[in-house]
Amino acid sequence: MATAVFYHYHRFFHQSQQKQEGQAKYQGRRGGGGEAADASAKEFDGEALLRFGDTGSHIPVMLGEVLDVFASISLRSFVDCTLGAAGHTSAVRSSSDQYNMPWHSCGLNAELKIHTYLKNYRDIKYVLREVDEKLLTLGVDGILMDLGMSSMQVNNAERGFSVLSNGPLDMRMDPQASLKAEDILNSWPDVEVGRILREYGDESNWYSLQGKIVKARQKGGLHFTGDLVHLIQASTSGTKGGRQGWIKTATRVFQALRIAVNDELNTLKETLYACFDCLAPGGRLAVISFHSLEDRIVKQTFLDLINCSRGDEDAEVESYAMDLREIDDDNEAWIIRKIQGLNGTILTKRPISPSQEEEKLNRRSRSAKLRVIQKV
Ligand SMILES: C[S@@+](CC[C@H](N)C(=O)[O-])C[C@H]1O[C@@H](n2cnc3c(N)ncnc32)[C@H](O)[C@@H]1O
Repeated sequence: MATAVFYHYHRFFHQSQQKQEGQAKYQGRRGGGGEAADASAKEFDGEALLRFGDTGSHIPVMLGEVLDVFASISLRSFVDCTLGAAGHTSAVRSSSDQYNMPWHSCGLNAELKIHTYLKNYRDIKYVLREVDEKLLTLGVDGILMDLGMSSMQVNNAERGFSVLSNGPLDMRMDPQASLKAEDILNSWPDVEVGRILREYGDESNWYSLQGKIVKARQKGGLHFTGDLVHLIQASTSGTKGGRQGWIKTATRVFQALRIAVNDELNTLKETLYACFDCLAPGGRLAVISFHSLEDRIVKQTFLDLINCSRGDEDAEVESYAMDLREIDDDNEAWIIRKIQGLNGTILTKRPISPSQEEEKLNRRSRSAKLRVIQKV
């Protein structure tokens, strides 16, 4: 868990060069992605990935797209709610520095401050107050939430997130938290175990798994990820799909437990409201989600935040069309469709998904969806 805040004081932030370059990189839009998302048409920048994404540990997802989101706003302050290996933050910071050159060379008193906090992101207001009370009153210009799992976490068997390597059934994002996955599996009421598998894992076989999990308590319960995987393998052995079949089920079950252990959906919703409160006028919040439950929450919370009633999105675009001049999307080729509300603009009417090239290079990016909101 980490929250990073970096900000630098400046009077002027010149980025027109960056806008032009960004625009030139869009080479038409690929129609894929179905109704759910607009596949990114941004040319994939493998070089930037090598620079900022330590491919040995974690590859930042949709890096170029995230850079575009923040390229055209005056980025005096930036909060990365999910710092991880700092891939996104390093790139945002580096591109800010790069385009700030003329200003630096003028000899103004530039100061870059970086603060890192090991905190739950729902505590963003507390963190900003700790850094500088003024950040809360003036607001921050950019906020990023990357809701994926970091590869370092998944690959560390001791954390209990990995289906393929045996470790304790832990799954806490915050190692200080008290609830572990094994507590849910071994002591929560059976209907709650079933609800978690059904609602958070979208697992069709939930009822049978619920029964087996509860029955396992009579033999001492489940304590290692391997115990749970064996139970799942035994439950799915007769079904289609072979190894792929049980791995898919196990992935859904592990996701469900992780969401429950960390109360991820409530925390996400609460944090989105807090982040929007913390934005400066014109500031942007970008969220990358990795499964439909998260994406639905981001979508609905954004609609609520901009004060645009659901189902009335097209009418709102018309009635506030005048305000759209505030966002110069001629220079922001990544913006395809917007929804304007009273309190802000959703810059991604449909979420953006990774380009085909990125999906090929990084399988973990395949379910990613990027949504962006801007405060009025
Ligand atoms: C996918 S990683 C971020 C990777 C990062 N964007 C990069 O480029 O290196 C997500 C991070 O968010 C952290 N995280 C998950 N839930 C969190 C929470 N509630 N509060 C703060 N951090 C959280 C995870 O521990 C993980 O380090």
